[in-house]
Amino acid sequence: MRFTRRAAVAVIGVAALLTASACGSSDDGDGGGSGSKKVEVFTWWADGGEKAGLDGLVAQFGTSCAGQEFVNGAVAGGAGANAKQVLASRLQQNDPPDTFQAHAGAELQDYILAGQVEDISADYDTWGLKTAFPPGLIQNLTVEGKIYSVPANIHRANVVWTNKKVVAAAGITSDPTDLAGFIADLDKVKAKGIAAPLAIGKDWTQLMLFESVLITDLGAEKFTGLWNGTTPWDGADVTKAINDFKTLLTYTNKDRDALDWTDAEKLVMDGKAAYQLMGDWEAADLDAKKFADYAWFTFPGNGTTFQWLADSFVLPKGAKNVEGTKCWLKTVGSAEGQKAFNTKKGSIPARTDASPADYPKYQQAAMADWKSSTQVPSCAHGSACSQGWQGAANSALGAFSTNQDVAGLQKALASAASQFVKK
Ligand code: GAL
Repeated sequence: MRFTRRAAVAVIGVAALLTASACGSSDDGDGGGSGSKKVEVFTWWADGGEKAGLDGLVAQFGTSCAGQEFVNGAVAGGAGANAKQVLASRLQQNDPPDTFQAHAGAELQDYILAGQVEDISADYDTWGLKTAFPPGLIQNLTVEGKIYSVPANIHRANVVWTNKKVVAAAGITSDPTDLAGFIADLDKVKAKGIAAPLAIGKDWTQLMLFESVLITDLGAEKFTGLWNGTTPWDGADVTKAINDFKTLLTYTNKDRDALDWTDAEKLVMDGKAAYQLMGDWEAADLDAKKFADYAWFTFPGNGTTFQWLADSFVLPKGAKNVEGTKCWLKTVGSAEGQKAFNTKKGSIPARTDASPADYPKYQQAAMADWKSSTQVPSCAHGSACSQGWQGAANSALGAFSTNQDVAGLQKALASAASQFVKK
């Protein structure tokens, strides 16, 4: 629809331009035109805790950027499964939104290397952001000395969310700390008549679970090496991880390939499952859905590893309202913006000057963990791998969900790595 409307605007462009200049107005009414005060913000935060986070940021934007108008360009679908395709097609057609969400790390570099986003290093200086964010994060946003986006948060991926009642009814009194303990607990829940105690959804959610198993079986350093080319994908440790993952899949719902993360989350909320491995946007979503009976633990065997990812916002080349977009970016990076967003989103602020007391219980724990943990990136959420690599991994996992072919999955993942790893 949007494309059609844009295309129509382009066709009548010359006439409209003449009319507009005659009237002294340059706003084409579609968020475009120099002088537009509309800022189209493109995300996949359309519902629940994700939307609550976005709403918080929008409220702050309204205060900090009076006169500018937020236009919601959200395309629903967890992890941007749909949004990223729509965005790719818009960028290709030179129809960028004023700003869009991109993960810090390899995913952001895709856009930088394709020349689709602007260098905002000078704004970092003006807004005092170079010292507001941790140096490691700045490094993940930087290519050849230039910075291209403003991070809104830090999320954690390797967390298991539980339905406290279901877990207690199975007689489980402590959190499992290794895979054997987790499997023993899954058996206990199963013995209570819950056929699929571990809820899961489609491809990218399976990739998340698999990455957590890889962290357990390989350890943090070798896991990170899988993404930078220093750990081979064809080793016996990866074979073991695939077999462990295969075992875990036997405890999951059979309709997994048709479900988004929120559908799997509902299985936990409804007491049809005990556990779900998911990023900590789940904390915010459960809160938004008023489900209070939940607890969480780090994926068994991950120890003190914090698998991180960060949502950041960019200034696309060709953005129509640069001034308004810069005000959005400034808000995203500000102490007030980070608080308004992260208290509602389940994530922790990327800025180092936040006060934990302002945050709900889960984020207070995550803030403490972030400081003391070993950090590893996520491929499912773009900090570890490029979009091409992520797509290849998602489809390999999707195929495995049906065929359970251990050697086939390992081969597909090894071949994706040799194609996409940066040498
Ligand atoms: C991630 C994103 C999170 C959350 C999640 C589920 O990729 O970084 O902010 O939105 O997807 O949709």
